[in-house]
Amino acid sequence: MKNYELRNGVRVPEIGYGTWKTPDGETCAKAVETAIKLGYRHIDAAMVYGNEESVGLGIKNSGIRREELFLTGKVWNTDRGYGRTIRAFEKTIKDLQTDYLDLYLIHWPASPNQYDCWEALNRETWEALTDLYKSGKIKAIGVSNFRRRHLIPLLEEEVIPMVNQLELHPGMVQADIVSLCSEYQILPEAYSPLGNGKLLKSKELSEMAERYGKTSAQICIKWNLQHGFLPLSKSVNEDRMRTNLEVHDFKITEEDMRTLDGLEGFADGNDPDQVLF
Ligand code: A2P
Repeated sequence: MKNYELRNGVRVPEIGYGTWKTPDGETCAKAVETAIKLGYRHIDAAMVYGNEESVGLGIKNSGIRREELFLTGKVWNTDRGYGRTIRAFEKTIKDLQTDYLDLYLIHWPASPNQYDCWEALNRETWEALTDLYKSGKIKAIGVSNFRRRHLIPLLEEEVIPMVNQLELHPGMVQADIVSLCSEYQILPEAYSPLGNGKLLKSKELSEMAERYGKTSAQICIKWNLQHGFLPLSKSVNEDRMRTNLEVHDFKITEEDMRTLDGLEGFADGNDPDQVLF
């Protein structure tokens, strides 16, 4: 698998395997193990998904050497602040059965609608990530769901985010935050690359996929790669896991990329300033 290179030189396999909504227990452990056997080398996890122990078990059962895997975790909203973040990190690595993470993200920004001190809170959380990074327990650090107003304050820090994980897929391009990311060499990672699966019902997309002799899911994943985003595809089905990696034998034309950018009806992701969690 090809890699992206982060601003600090760390290399990341260009397609990740997502674990959001994967049922905890046997299903999750088996899915992660299967994904690794099929060639996924980048696993995206988070404490709030409630399945980190199963992800850890799946990794262990796969028999892969830890250093061959790129593993991401995220600090949840109730663990913001310096001390809580450090403790959340320690629990996450214990549950994942590892002693370091390749990438650790602030899952959602504290927002001005929720807290007067939102900026200070994000900064404190970020300081914890920075200290963990400096101590070598994390190879790269970043954020998730940060829009321009949340990201700008962190751009003044000594270490700035290397990744911003966002909802990105055809019909949801988030041009404003993506252009700020590219200005600072912050890699946009794409969660829900299939629009939570909804894009698979798009007639326009399926007609395009047919023209390329590809599935709609493959078109979505390729769209992300051609934009320079890192798609985090997720499936618990072995065949779909496999075909979601088979995206290197075709290229989407510029005209079709523009059509996909503008697909209507799929840009309804959560606004970090409106969410109630
Ligand atoms: P499943 O696990 O049964 O394959 P998104 O990544 O946008 O959130 O979408 C994920 C959803 O899309 C999951 O419900 C997953 O279900 C489904 N999915 C993933 N890959 C494919 C595929 N290649 N074809 C059809 N559905 C897929």
